[in-house]
Amino acid sequence: MSETIIATDRRINPADCFDPDTGVLQRRIFSDQEIYREELRRIFGRAWNFMCHESQLPAAGDFFMNWIGEDEVIAVRNRNGEINVLLNSCPHRGNTVCRAELGNTNSFFCSYHGWNFDLDGRLIGMPGEDQFYRGSVDKTAWGLTPAAKVESYRGFVFATLDPAAPDLKDYLGWVGRLGIDFIASKGEIRFLDGVQKNRIQCNWKLAVDNLFDWYHVKVSHGTALKLGVVGEESMSPMEQMVVLGEYGHAISGPGISEARYQEAVQRVSEGGEDGEWFDREVARRVQPGVAEQLGALGKRSFGHPNIFPNLWVNLTPQLCLRIPRGPFETELWWFTYEVEGMSEKDRKFLQFMANHIFGPAGLLEQDDGENWSHSTRGAKGSFGQGLPLNYAMGLGADQMQSASDGQSGIETVVSEHAQRWLYNSWQEWMLADSWQDLMASHAMPPTQGTI
Ligand code: FES
Ligand SMILES: [Fe+2]
Repeated sequence: MSETIIATDRRINPADCFDPDTGVLQRRIFSDQEIYREELRRIFGRAWNFMCHESQLPAAGDFFMNWIGEDEVIAVRNRNGEINVLLNSCPHRGNTVCRAELGNTNSFFCSYHGWNFDLDGRLIGMPGEDQFYRGSVDKTAWGLTPAAKVESYRGFVFATLDPAAPDLKDYLGWVGRLGIDFIASKGEIRFLDGVQKNRIQCNWKLAVDNLFDWYHVKVSHGTALKLGVVGEESMSPMEQMVVLGEYGHAISGPGISEARYQEAVQRVSEGGEDGEWFDREVARRVQPGVAEQLGALGKRSFGHPNIFPNLWVNLTPQLCLRIPRGPFETELWWFTYEVEGMSEKDRKFLQFMANHIFGPAGLLEQDDGENWSHSTRGAKGSFGQGLPLNYAMGLGADQMQSASDGQSGIETVVSEHAQRWLYNSWQEWMLADSWQDLMASHAMPPTQGTI
């Protein structure tokens, strides 16, 4: 354990919070108010944030509410078929102009004094425009504030509040894109109406860090494994793959060896595979076209992707957004999707996972949530918050390998490479003063050597 840092009232420098050379992290990043405020500004305020899937907004006027940090936004399809992202805050007194979570509308009417905004956010009506304002308001200057940029990748819509952000495709890089390709390569995707939402009393980063964590599975989820609720083989701690991406994106979890992949190719060529989900997913990935889309390492990765900062692309038919609600609370949003023409077996699997594994009633989520909230509690005490945490598993013990198609990753046993990459990237975001600064200062993922 490194030297203990006793908590003080001094401002914390993010540079002192994580040491990638030792894997030591300071707990105060999970409890400090100033750090939290800066995260909203420097991370959520700059990043590309997931909004929704295009299938959720098929018609003009369809909208879906989401958040960028603690700023509520409306994703809405306009009459030209484009998707706008607008701040849900009236420029008159700041009231919200939409209270529904999703729906269809002709305009956004503010319930306070009645200002009315069209689907592009333009102010189109205000009571007393002539009598009270005497016609003096320039309506073009008082619309709803739009996000700086809105773009989508394979139907997944993202928005950023920072005009200096790179294009979405560049932001995602091959690792972020691969996370989405895992789903998009299945075919035509349709997100189902209704998002399961629940709050856990934990810092948002602990929820993100956990999605890379395959060390906890046998302990935290021991009961679920014993009951056979989740298959043990697909959770092997001994065959793991970690992929690191620019700006903090990463994928960590099971990865099958080239030999196992070739066995699957053989099985499929001999008449297909119709076993459990994991087998069916392997079989899908050996199909021509899919393997090429996912790449040499991607086709063998069954880990969990996180699109920085907070979108977990779960390989079961769900996505989870971890929305910060202060340093001590996180709201989890579980999106469920179906694939056009999916088999009855896959649909049953989807229903089971969406109802029993994650989400408010999920057995695994209850196991996880309790641990995250207690970890957050452990970062709150005036003494405890000054203590370090150990993220050193596998540090300096593995090799980064590159495939001929340019993809690179680590094939190893359970490790904490992805968590270290997450906090190293977090530190870069927190220290950068602008996108320009971040682009110049952030580390590129290594492609070779010891890691
Ligand atoms: S706050 Fe919206 S019209 Fe006054
Ligand atoms: Fe878990």
